[in-house]
Amino acid sequence: MAVKVVTQVAQGAGAEVLVVPMPKTKKGARLAHGGLDRALGGQVKAAVANGAFSGRVQETRILVPTGGVKVKRVVLCGIGDKDEFSEESVRRAVGAAARVAGRAASVAIALHAVPGDGARAAEAAVVGWRLGSYKFTKFKSDRKKVRPARLALMTSGGKARAVRAGAKIGTAVADGVVTARDLGNNPGNYMTPTILARAARAMAQSTGLKSRVLTETQMRALGMGSLLSVSRGSVEPAKLILLEHGRKAKNRPTVCLVGKGLTFDTGGISMKPPGDMDKMRYDMCGGAAVVGTMEAVARLKLPLHVVGVVPSSENMPDAKATKPGDIVTAMNGKTIEVLNTDAEGRLILADALCYAQRYKPELIIDLATLTGAVLVALGKHMAGMMGTDESSMAGLQSAGKATHERVWQLPLDDDYDAQVRGRSADLQNIGGRNAGTVTAAQFLRHFTGDLNWIHLDIAGTAWDDPTRIYNKGVGATGYGVRLLTRFLQERAGR
Ligand code: BES
Ligand code: MN
Ligand code: ZN
Repeated sequence: MAVKVVTQVAQGAGAEVLVVPMPKTKKGARLAHGGLDRALGGQVKAAVANGAFSGRVQETRILVPTGGVKVKRVVLCGIGDKDEFSEESVRRAVGAAARVAGRAASVAIALHAVPGDGARAAEAAVVGWRLGSYKFTKFKSDRKKVRPARLALMTSGGKARAVRAGAKIGTAVADGVVTARDLGNNPGNYMTPTILARAARAMAQSTGLKSRVLTETQMRALGMGSLLSVSRGSVEPAKLILLEHGRKAKNRPTVCLVGKGLTFDTGGISMKPPGDMDKMRYDMCGGAAVVGTMEAVARLKLPLHVVGVVPSSENMPDAKATKPGDIVTAMNGKTIEVLNTDAEGRLILADALCYAQRYKPELIIDLATLTGAVLVALGKHMAGMMGTDESSMAGLQSAGKATHERVWQLPLDDDYDAQVRGRSADLQNIGGRNAGTVTAAQFLRHFTGDLNWIHLDIAGTAWDDPTRIYNKGVGATGYGVRLLTRFLQERAGR
């Protein structure tokens, strides 16, 4: 939904709920939003004076207007110290406000007290609101037909242009994240490779992306024996989903985004223990992030050639399923001993990475919920990053800081290669207990040719994030959409 931008003072808001990001008030300094405070009969000043609201990040305070302010509720939300201001503090502040604001048909966010030129603040406010108010209600039988609130940003005349531009970006990015979250949150019986492919195509149609979906027959003809070994045990046929934005042209880099779209991972014959196995509905979150990013990239009309490649499969045990020890052949001719059918992500990515090379991209980035080991290494705060292109990795590092979808580099090094070399085949799909996240990447390295490539292990960050208020309780976080979109914007010089 489009966001309206109005040049007006906060106390003039016409919405049901007025959200007011406020910095901390330093001793002796003037209170921000003095006009609003007077219109509220001094309630803001009083709240600050008696310690009920200090302006700490994520702190909120609801005020009920008595006098001339038309809104039903005012939600103050802290953005912390003015001098330490960041986009993330606005996202968290507005995200926290969304959690306490209650139901409303219309919301206005007053950006007057947020430092900066307005664009980043506007983007962060839109993203914070949309992500903070996200709920996955598809399967609640008593869900009310609640429409998302109409959103308006309020600012001063001087910043209106920048705020408008930022709001547009924020809307595109939030749309992409919501798409990724919705895809991720669907349980396995509502999210099969076929359904994921259909959803991706529908998104492509509505945003003007090119799309194609390869069937198992087509993949067999291409020699994708590694990917197909994973879907063997499932009645759901695997799909290879292709999305394309822009076209190859001189001075226009091609970037391939590859996402693991494992719609449910039982582990296969090497079956997972039952505890928490339902979480493996989220094993397609890499693919969902690619679909969401492609949506944002299309809406932003970035001057880049971006190709999304999503290998999608279920991983099930069955009489026909791949067995530990089976040897399969990938599209590039390399043979793989499948020693553990639960290390299936790298098997479907192997063929997808081979296929991505056809586009001759300047860079391939893959996202995958690939290893439990990355949770051990980095927890839920950061994704593991490994790759061959140091300067693009630096770009992701800084996009990660800005969006707070952070990445942390782990090594990629031939010394680890011995762990994935096969006994009777070229490779084996597990590398032993040590450095599980790194050896998974080392395995993938065998399928990227000599192209620039970066692997993001998002098994820790793709779902159940208690660390960021706007991700709390949402299930699938949509991790990667904001990171990649920002990275690609920078790449496009936007
Ligand atoms: N999808 C899982 C990774 C995963 C596990 C993500 C737990 C989040 C939480 C992946 O397919 C997998 O099963 N990986 C194995 C690899 C191992 C068998 C080498 C793992 O990490 O245990
Ligand atoms: Mn697995
Ligand atoms: Zn998996």
